[in-house]
Amino acid sequence: MPPSLPVQDEHSQRDGFGRLARLYRWLEYLTFGPWLALCRNARLRDVSVTAARHALILGDGDGRFLARLLRQNPGLGILSVDSSPAMLDRQSRRAARDGNASRLTIHCEDIRCFTPAADYDLVTTHFCLDCLSTTEIEALARRLRLRMAPGACWIVSDFALPGGAARIPARIVVRSLYLAFRVITGLQTRTLPDHAEALRNAGFVLLDRCTWLAGLLMSERWTTPAGASTKPLTY
Ligand SMILES: C[S@@+](CC[C@H](N)C(=O)[O-])C[C@H]1O[C@@H](n2cnc3c(N)ncnc32)[C@H](O)[C@@H]1O
Repeated sequence: MPPSLPVQDEHSQRDGFGRLARLYRWLEYLTFGPWLALCRNARLRDVSVTAARHALILGDGDGRFLARLLRQNPGLGILSVDSSPAMLDRQSRRAARDGNASRLTIHCEDIRCFTPAADYDLVTTHFCLDCLSTTEIEALARRLRLRMAPGACWIVSDFALPGGAARIPARIVVRSLYLAFRVITGLQTRTLPDHAEALRNAGFVLLDRCTWLAGLLMSERWTTPAGASTKPLTY
């Protein structure tokens, strides 16, 4: 969807995701137990994360990941972009509770329109790219690519459709999630985008990939080409 479409209606004004802000954490534990948190936090001790100084966090929801990232990296400053004012409010409160508010800047905008104005060595999108189409992700990735230094890291965690026997149950789970988010938040996306194709087209290189729950959940590390010291991974 081009940035000129009335994204405000879908996200900021109605704040569909904001309806979930208070309960989001508990709904997550109720449906997936500890698995989403495991997937989201899997890279926290990775050197590409611990060495980062300027992070761009997109669609972090209620800010649990962001708060941990700030706690574990005292030299890190974060710009967090989310289209939900209620989610951003929770992010700010969490960071403030830990005394880290000064290192967090929040920005309310649809990431389909967002263009970074500074350089970043770390980008994270946890369970957020699945709200976009492949074309929207590619456009976003091309804009981010211009502000990511060589060797900068982009961590993507999301749902995936594995091959083999696990594919059918995974399809059912993903379909049910899209239906639930459509009803509760008004999300228009109905199928998982091909984020890998989008990132590759924008010039990113996949470094590694971890999966959980028979491939239903994945966490990937992407980088800008100059930082790809190992053979790029494809799947
Ligand atoms: C499913 S929640 C995921 C939250 C969290 N990252 C996690 O790991 O659970 C999606 C988050 O992305 C935000 N979001 C969805 N679509 C967005 C968009 N187009 N622009 C900006 N934020 C968006 C929502 O407000 C919400 O905070």
